[in-house]
Amino acid sequence: MCGIVAACFKNGDVVPTLVEGLRCLEYRGYDSAGLAVLAPGLPVRKAKGRVEDLAQLIEQNPLPDSSVGIAHTRWATHGEPSQVNSHPHRAGSVVLVHNGILENFESLKESFVEEGREFVSQTDSEVWAALLDHEIGLVRKDGPLDPMGVMRALNRSMARARGSYGLAILVEELPGLVFFARNESPLVLGLSPDGNYVASDVQAVLARTHDFIYLLEGQCGWIDAESFHVFDRDLGEVQPEVEHLDWDAESVGKSGYEHFMLKEIEEQGIVLAQTLSSTTSSKDRILPDFRVSDDTLRSFDRIVIVACGTALHAGRLGRYILEEATGIPVDVDFASEFRYRNPLLGERDLVLAISQSGETADTLGAVKVAREKGATAVAICNVRGSSLCRLVADTILTQCGPEIGVASTKAFTAQVLAIHLLAMRVGMARRQMGEEELLRRLQLLRSSRTAIETLLSHQVRSHIAEVAKKYAHKSVYFFLGRGADYPIALEGALKLKEISYLHAEGYPAGEMKHGPLALVSEDMVVVALAGEGPVYDKVLGNMQEVKTRGAKLVVLTNTDKREAIELADDVVLIPRTDPLVAPLLHVIPLQYLAYYVALERGCEIDKPRNLAKSVTVE
Ligand code: M6R
Repeated sequence: MCGIVAACFKNGDVVPTLVEGLRCLEYRGYDSAGLAVLAPGLPVRKAKGRVEDLAQLIEQNPLPDSSVGIAHTRWATHGEPSQVNSHPHRAGSVVLVHNGILENFESLKESFVEEGREFVSQTDSEVWAALLDHEIGLVRKDGPLDPMGVMRALNRSMARARGSYGLAILVEELPGLVFFARNESPLVLGLSPDGNYVASDVQAVLARTHDFIYLLEGQCGWIDAESFHVFDRDLGEVQPEVEHLDWDAESVGKSGYEHFMLKEIEEQGIVLAQTLSSTTSSKDRILPDFRVSDDTLRSFDRIVIVACGTALHAGRLGRYILEEATGIPVDVDFASEFRYRNPLLGERDLVLAISQSGETADTLGAVKVAREKGATAVAICNVRGSSLCRLVADTILTQCGPEIGVASTKAFTAQVLAIHLLAMRVGMARRQMGEEELLRRLQLLRSSRTAIETLLSHQVRSHIAEVAKKYAHKSVYFFLGRGADYPIALEGALKLKEISYLHAEGYPAGEMKHGPLALVSEDMVVVALAGEGPVYDKVLGNMQEVKTRGAKLVVLTNTDKREAIELADDVVLIPRTDPLVAPLLHVIPLQYLAYYVALERGCEIDKPRNLAKSVTVE
């Protein structure tokens, strides 16, 4: 959940680039930040708070010029956010930054304390530094320390460490080098003519390079300004593939928007077009490069979707899409529950993992369980080369570009679209769907961009901003939907709670009478999704139930039927489309609503309290 960036330059001071890299990584964690450079005494600066606080500290108390350094932005797990708990952590001649959790830190710390070592922080990461320094001490007994000696010490440390880690390390007596290691926490190497980088993700250095090596589990090594060396768990040197990423460096900026979230909401029309064009061939072949054969796709009796948060909501909506298009029963589960409930699975199951980052620890854990039980696992993911992509038989890559706001928006749209494509592909393979129906669906999806752009218009946005202003002081929100709108209600509630800190719940509207109705009062805002379709009248009934009990009622509807409009305190009109694509539209006003309520309440939208973008620990 933390962000790491480190660099070795041929010339020049590394500090401004590292600070810039931290700014791009701040969405991964933002309670404290720190930086160390390779100079005599391994000088370190750390600050509680944002990267900006660290930048100010460095301005007041500059670090010596150095072309090698490591930096970190933190999302606290062990030890409160504080200056002393911030990274880098030092032990002897080692200073390091760590993303992950050292699970056995207590027992390791105990043994080091017995040896007389002192610790200043409450963190597990300081114990990592001590562990490595201890192992380097043992290597030094065999002679002067060289890079391979550090590798041996790192390798021994990795064998003793339990848990997840991405590490960037400086060793005082080895100038010009940054050492690294990864296990269950993402780490990439960035390569450029001016020098090389180690980072938690590509965003950190996208302004400097587009050439990356995605490190694998258990790999370690070092970079200098001109070369890199990567080793496997047996300390055999490997030749990893260098991948060129064509993401635009601008895409990690706000492009004039006040918040990333707003920018990302408004990119959803483009995301739809890009994801569709990259996953269909000119002859309308769906997922032409998908590596799971039609024969295999025909062999499944069940599809199981695993994901977390917004991606899980995309999966819940995906259940309707997949069942309808393929005739295969679909289960959907929280990745965090699935992985520990000993699920009944076998080779006739297709497990679909959905994740924007591809680094969510629970989703990765769920896929590992699925594979152990013989199921075929595939993924929908936004990050090429991520840990998830490497675990599964194949991935449908969504074309969102980097999503930086902690509240996921454009990734949801792209994930739902990818599910449609998978559904069509499986439906065709199983002859559940004919060519004509496939073309009809593709046409519907393509043309839904117009409706999406209508919803993203200034007119709709400013109307929702007005509604948000009216209700931002209310403290409880219910989001109600039925059928495919139920997952949208869940997503609307999640968006609101995470960025405005208001209590918000999503319910299938039919459940209200079975308990939640007891909570309805004048203090509540109910947002009802009342799209045209077989359950429209039922939702109308549910709206009446809450309205008679005094709740304020905001209705999203695509019908001009009077009843819904007359019942509502406020109405948001959605363009009328085929039910197949309607949920893709319904989510957009809810994203705006969450955004404007949070704005009205003065909340920090892109970096909500207690949360981080990428949940790489359990
Ligand atoms: O990267 P992932 O899609 O796997 O992330 C899953 C969730 O952590 C994520 O969707 C989270 O719920 C978002 N903050 C929701 O806006």
